[in-house]
Amino acid sequence: MEIEREQLQVLFTREQLAQKVSCTAKRITEDYNGKNPLIIGVLNGAFMFFADLVREVDIPCEVDFVRAESYSGKFSIGEVTLSLKGKLPVCGRDIIIVEDILDTGRTLNKIREEILKDSPKSVKTAVLFDKPSRRTVDFKADYICFEIPDLFVVGYGLDCDEKYRNLPFVAVKK
Ligand code: XMP
Ligand code: MG
Repeated sequence: MEIEREQLQVLFTREQLAQKVSCTAKRITEDYNGKNPLIIGVLNGAFMFFADLVREVDIPCEVDFVRAESYSGKFSIGEVTLSLKGKLPVCGRDIIIVEDILDTGRTLNKIREEILKDSPKSVKTAVLFDKPSRRTVDFKADYICFEIPDLFVVGYGLDCDEKYRNLPFVAVKK
């Protein structure tokens, strides 16, 4: 792990992440005041962001998870598959989908389309990172913690071939 860490350049520290996640949670708390949203995390990449975010959302809410796969290593393999659907009903609910990165837009677009089939009351999306320069599908997230250039980032839930997810910071591989 020591040698692997030497190849990483920190992009966002634990403190910078915590501060932005906290701001986003406050916005959600205000926007959903009096509501009871169902907050759906996208596994695996969003697990750490999701846990930190919902911990600071100060209103009643419920949580669930979906799993989507579109990447193999560093490269998109194009087709998005939902290999795990949420357990809780979304019909009539205010849904917030929480994803790690909005990149080409295909993953969130697919997840939102699937959720919309079950007639939710509303659907919004929250992302840790937005890479607008990579977009191939027209998609805008409602809550964005950081906009970043076209860099492949790891840590804080994000992986490269399943490594680095446990790092408390976000880094670029040198
Ligand atoms: P799309 O292209 O569907 O991609 O918007 C979203 C998914 O791609 C993964 N992704 C990354 N994963 N570092 C990662 O660890 C990155 O820089 C990166 N860029 C995209 C991510 O899993 C996201 O769910
Ligand atoms: Mg992902």
